[in-house]
Amino acid sequence: YHVDWDAAAAEKGGFRSFMDKEIDEQPQAVADTLLGRTDAAGALVLDELRIDEEALKRVSKIVLVACGTASYAGMVAKYAIEHWTRIPCEVELAHEFRYRDPVVDDRTLVVSISQSGETMDTLMAVKHARELGAMTIAICNTHGSTIPRESDAVLYTHAGPEIAVASTKAFLAQITAVYVLGLYLAQLRGGTYADEAQAVMKELHEVPAKIRTVLDAMGRVREIARFMADSPAVLFLGRHVGYPVAMEGALKLKELAYIHAEGFAAGELKHGPIALVEPGQPVFVVVPSPSTEHGLHGKVVSNIQEIRARGARTLVIAEEGDESVVPFADEIISVPTVPTLLAPLLTVVPLQVFACELASAKGLDVDQPRNLAKSVTVE
Ligand code: G6P
Repeated sequence: YHVDWDAAAAEKGGFRSFMDKEIDEQPQAVADTLLGRTDAAGALVLDELRIDEEALKRVSKIVLVACGTASYAGMVAKYAIEHWTRIPCEVELAHEFRYRDPVVDDRTLVVSISQSGETMDTLMAVKHARELGAMTIAICNTHGSTIPRESDAVLYTHAGPEIAVASTKAFLAQITAVYVLGLYLAQLRGGTYADEAQAVMKELHEVPAKIRTVLDAMGRVREIARFMADSPAVLFLGRHVGYPVAMEGALKLKELAYIHAEGFAAGELKHGPIALVEPGQPVFVVVPSPSTEHGLHGKVVSNIQEIRARGARTLVIAEEGDESVVPFADEIISVPTVPTLLAPLLTVVPLQVFACELASAKGLDVDQPRNLAKSVTVE
């Protein structure tokens, strides 16, 4: 009788890779990031920011800066924070922000998002913002790292250490943290959504269990991924908060599986990308909830119909019970119902699993993809 004891395997807790493990830890990453950020009555408390509340009330503009996956958390933030606070938000890649002439003053709040807290591009953007007189808050996963030290305040994500180079659980924690920040600002400043902040927090607390539901149903996604290991290109479409999810789905596939992948805003399809669609082309579509306002859901369903008519193989991520996608979907991946703005915490999960599984089927090292580094400490 022989027991293989391998320290690395033990660290992976029985998972094939750190990435598989970290994807599985996402319910906890979200739950931990919510922990301790509400009082007994359910109101948001962010004393940890130790920032001048009066100054926060005066903020007239928010700029989110980040790189890579974290920048997609920034895109999600724009939709959510503008909606809840009515403060205009911009999101910009940190390396672009730094080298143009951004409109920033002492009423601008610059929010950086970084798992490592060491990304040089993001750090330089934060320094630049401070020079211009902005207030800076770091959303960061690593205690004592450089970006929080160089910022006025920090809101930590509690994803735990992320070992795999490409980000998964830190991304969900970042999205959670920007929601917390947005709801806190809404509460602080009063206004239409001040009263709703607590209700949204309640909904957020239900998300970890829903992520677990998604994770438990990934069998078919894994099968599809293995069938698709030889795909030369995969497209991803999404609209509203589904747009950054599509971008992240494409990034994961590039990073892990070295497959050409592009994420598009679904509304942009007819303005160009639809020319890429030929018979057999796999296209993931992130469909908003049928309850989403302004007829967005119907528009995205039409997009699926359009690409299907041109022979695309449609892989549709939709809310459970959404029958309208059935006629146009080659595959349906269902996720539980959540308020539209919170949907990225669920809809991105199948895309992470897909990329991870496909790359593993190709025999690739999903934890350490070629040419990439966990934190890029050069500009
Ligand atoms: C690197 C990693 C990415 C990550 C990006 C930003 O490029 O490979 O996975 O999204 O840096 O990292 P940060 O630590 O700033 O979130």
